[in-house]
Amino acid sequence: MKPYDRKDYFLSTKFTPVFADSGDDPVRDMLAGSLKRLHTDYIDLYWIHNSDDVEKWTPELIPLVKKGLVKHVGVSNHNLAQVKRANEILNAGGVELAAVQNHYSLLYRQSETTGLLDYCHQNGITFFPYMVLEQGILAGKHDAAHPFEGENDRARRYNPMLPQLNELLAKMIELAAQHHVAVADIATAWVIQKGTTPIIGVTKQHYIADTKHAISLTLTSAEMKALESLADQANVDTRAVWEQNMNQ
Ligand SMILES: NC(=O)c1ccc[n+]([C@@H]2O[C@H](COP(=O)([O-])OP(=O)(O)OC[C@H]3O[C@@H](n4cnc5c(N)ncnc54)[C@H](OP(=O)(O)O)[C@@H]3O)[C@@H](O)[C@H]2O)c1
Repeated sequence: MKPYDRKDYFLSTKFTPVFADSGDDPVRDMLAGSLKRLHTDYIDLYWIHNSDDVEKWTPELIPLVKKGLVKHVGVSNHNLAQVKRANEILNAGGVELAAVQNHYSLLYRQSETTGLLDYCHQNGITFFPYMVLEQGILAGKHDAAHPFEGENDRARRYNPMLPQLNELLAKMIELAAQHHVAVADIATAWVIQKGTTPIIGVTKQHYIADTKHAISLTLTSAEMKALESLADQANVDTRAVWEQNMNQ
């Protein structure tokens, strides 16, 4: 990013409670490390990466905003009650909660069913879904006949689910052909139409072009409903090991 003016790009990084040091101010220390490594003097959006001890860590964000080291703050992997509480704590210090980052995809809709997404919309909080493509199983390259290769977490977690996804994937392939977009764009357009700003794991340059197509793609409400119904019928649980059950 060095050739670009700092104000022309948006930089986000996070505080991860589990990596907090034992000093007086672990949030300040972790941010200082990020600023140094990223060669910048401010972060546009700074996250608390999980909901370990909302009462302890959330207030620590307030001075970072007041000092201009961080422009906006967000929380990740928090449930509805924890998001509300984080927002209250920040508001009491004169800071707004700007963003929530949770796992959300056609196959994993807890943030929707628990009312968290509605809460974000009602309170001007941007919802950034991650694992929108379920690490690639909603990208059309893999199915029961073409599972992920190798001995890795992705293959271990997702390959057993692939036989249940045949109908959903067939529908996504059909819609992608009708709209002249990549299959991955169907999954991405679906979350965008839910009023969210997806974080996509783009591992190849041409995936960026796909993602741009997804931004301008409009799925009809019948197409949205058909996708949701087939996703429900697939009946798979893609909750990751680090994620809490948001229903509890
Ligand atoms: N807050 C948290 O706890 C948390 C947890 C997980 C992730 N995240 C964030 O979310 C981001 C995305 O997560 P993720 O990468 O795990 O999952 P993802 O976005 O669901 O899946 C990314 C995978 O999908 C494939 N892909 C991406 N774009 C594609 C396209 N246009 N066409 C075909 N395939 C495509 C790629 O697979 P191939 O490389 O095999 O082609 C890539 O590895 C991460 O980078 C991270 O910033 C946050």
